[in-house]
Amino acid sequence: MPSVHVNLADRSYDIVIGRQLISSIGDRAAELLNCRRCAVVTDSHVAPLYAEAVLRSLTENGIDPILIKVPAGETSKSMSAVEDVCRQMILAGLDRKAFLIALGGGVIGDLAGFAASIFLRGIPFIQVPTTLLSQVDSSVGGKTGVNTPEGKNLLGTFSQPALVIADVATLHTLPQRVYQEGFAEVIKHAAIRDASMFEAIIDIADGQGSLTELVKRNVEIKARIVEQDEHEITGERALLNFGHTIGHAIEASAGYGELFHGEAIALGMIAAARLSSELAGLPPAAVSQLEDLFKRIDLPTRLPENISTEIILDHMKHDKKFSEGKIRFILLRALGDAFVSHDVSTEHITDAIKGLRF
Ligand SMILES: NC(=O)c1ccc[n+]([C@@H]2O[C@H](COP(=O)([O-])OP(=O)(O)OC[C@H]3O[C@@H](n4cnc5c(N)ncnc54)[C@H](O)[C@@H]3O)[C@@H](O)[C@H]2O)c1
Ligand SMILES: [Zn+2]
Repeated sequence: MPSVHVNLADRSYDIVIGRQLISSIGDRAAELLNCRRCAVVTDSHVAPLYAEAVLRSLTENGIDPILIKVPAGETSKSMSAVEDVCRQMILAGLDRKAFLIALGGGVIGDLAGFAASIFLRGIPFIQVPTTLLSQVDSSVGGKTGVNTPEGKNLLGTFSQPALVIADVATLHTLPQRVYQEGFAEVIKHAAIRDASMFEAIIDIADGQGSLTELVKRNVEIKARIVEQDEHEITGERALLNFGHTIGHAIEASAGYGELFHGEAIALGMIAAARLSSELAGLPPAAVSQLEDLFKRIDLPTRLPENISTEIILDHMKHDKKFSEGKIRFILLRALGDAFVSHDVSTEHITDAIKGLRF
């Protein structure tokens, strides 16, 4: 079975990628963790699809699970949801010998990973990501957390999972738009680290090629970056923010949920690529190649008219990086070669946002 090892001293773990892995969860958990009780945390969309198979696999391997369901959607990434999850675990009598399984997309991974990292000062957890975004991005690297009314991901921990099981067969039940937006992070990985992945992405869009292989390549890219900069100190991990500075502001300006994260990030990447062409020598043909790939995946390449440049800039000003006057912006020298630049001004960014209308 394809797997990627994340090498982080005593926090090292494996990411197993393939099909029909859900039924192997109990077996793998029993082998890895000497725990007889666990909480399976999932959401209201994923529970009816996969919870039963996960619970069965656990009980067949002598593990006694409880199921904890939260409403699907970003609103479940809250402190009150964390408290609710933890209290259900306490009421069920789970102790420090228990573990947790996060079964779902990035919302569940972040929420349940956070709950596991603080429950009785921390118990092991297994990520079972079921969206493309969570398989290639959020389940790898150990960032957990929730939102507050003031902003996203403001509370959380760095806490690595004990194991990640990415079953690509679960992606077949995703709503089309959610599946597509996941490709924005895949294209991001290609743009910052591996331009040869462009072909593999087109193959998948054409209904050819192996999704397992594509997810594995992405996991490898993210894992290698995380290994070099687990706690986002050296700057390596910042490369993963390619397209996100402008993209986040667009996402927030549209009103959360109007433009999906991946859709907003696609626009952010186009703006960043054009700036790269102006400031870092990225060939114009590479910018076109990136835009064509977004079109192929049906991700937007033009800013919706109802989102004004002023509102986007306003959202950016709330970004701490901006108010401090030091803009750390990810640019590309070439496709597959990203770096952190300090030479991008607010004027550059304003022009790049305006340029997204053409
Ligand atoms: N920790 C990190 O490093 C990191 C990185 C990137 C993003 N994130 C976070 O990830 C979250 C977004 O994750 P997401 O895009 O996976 O969103 P999500 O978890 O909300 O999932 C999207 C939708 O798909 C549904 N769903 C999930 N799996 C399904 C399946 N197999 N079949 C049918 N429906 C399914 C969910 O119920 C939800 O409605 C954000 O909160 C973001 O902040 C975290
Ligand atoms: Zn992202």
